[in-house]
Amino acid sequence: MTADAAHPADTAANPADNSGPLAESPFLLACRRRPVPRTPVWFMRQAGRALPEYLRLREGVPMLESCARPDMIVEITMQPVRRYGVDAAIFFSDIVVPLKAIGIDVDIKPGVGPVIADPIRDAAGLDALRPLEPGDVPYVTEAVQGLVGELGATPLIGFAGAPFTLASYLIEGGPSKNQERTKALMYGDPDLWDRLMGRLADITIAFLKVQVAAGASAIQVFDSWVGSVAPEDYRASVLPHTRRIFAALEPLGVPRVHFGVGTGELLGLMGEAGADVVGVDWRVPLDEAARRVEPGKALQGNLDPAVLLAPWETVERRARDVLARGRTAEGHIFNLGHGVLPSTDPDVLARLVDLVHEAGSTH
Ligand code: CP3
Repeated sequence: MTADAAHPADTAANPADNSGPLAESPFLLACRRRPVPRTPVWFMRQAGRALPEYLRLREGVPMLESCARPDMIVEITMQPVRRYGVDAAIFFSDIVVPLKAIGIDVDIKPGVGPVIADPIRDAAGLDALRPLEPGDVPYVTEAVQGLVGELGATPLIGFAGAPFTLASYLIEGGPSKNQERTKALMYGDPDLWDRLMGRLADITIAFLKVQVAAGASAIQVFDSWVGSVAPEDYRASVLPHTRRIFAALEPLGVPRVHFGVGTGELLGLMGEAGADVVGVDWRVPLDEAARRVEPGKALQGNLDPAVLLAPWETVERRARDVLARGRTAEGHIFNLGHGVLPSTDPDVLARLVDLVHEAGSTH
């Protein structure tokens, strides 16, 4: 097989093969709950405003424009890998990129987040959500292919937003503290809710498949704001849709990570949705999280990102505690409990990576 003829998924480096340097990377081994030479570590939002080189590159380029330029995507994705030596790269994009790609009028306002010009609140609004085709996001395919070449044995994590979190932006029209309109629709019009969630799940599946087809070795589904939903409502109104996403990805053979904020009461259900790895925020210690998920799941997390603003001695003590508790899980990927805060000192993140690596293996 010649290299140029091979689709990334056909090469020996394909993580689905369970062989080759990529498949033997600590991150993919931990996702599969296999023994690791050292605990792998990466950070949600490791690319971004904490890095001066990111701020320089992004100067004058709107967020969503940078997500449509393969050269910028590749460079921004690589920046934290070079600087920190993390065990995985996460594709530089945003959860609203596939929505923009199908024609939704969405902008990311600095310091605010995604803002939707015409919120979706009725059946007519659903028409705006057409299916996503790979041809809608050629820049994603091109950037993933470029990244896989540059990253070598470091895995690339593809990602997408989960339907609930995407629905919350579409319904509220922007960021929202309590997702009240979203939940009102979920409670009050289950039929419209299911149709909306179904369309969003299809878009998420298509966006993730594009990334895996181009060579991403794992995927993470962010349901950042689903923590506002009670377990029984999650089971009835959210779980069927996320379960369909993870089931659709299963044949691709890449590990699937599922993460949300404030999801302590939902960890078991998020595992049941079909994730291989459950991401945990900082509110639930990992040993307790390990009890809350069913057997057969690895955990990812969960140092409070705000700890990184405290003196190093505190960071070290807290990080060692996360590692110790992570040892009780079947597999552990060290991460923060949510994204890197923009005011974080990059040198502290670099030191934290070294600490996790030097602490050795937790499994
Ligand atoms: O390094 C990485 O983790 C990859 C990049 C990434 C971004 N967004 C880039 C980004 C990822 C994984 C996301 C996912 C995302 N986007 C989520 C889920 C993860 C989470 O944090 O819970 C959510 C909820 C969004 C929506 C969104 N986009 C928010 C809330 C914001 C922040 C707004 C702000 O300015 O504070 C964005 C913008 C965004 N996405 C930035 C980055 C680097 C900042 C924009 C900038 O640098 O100008």
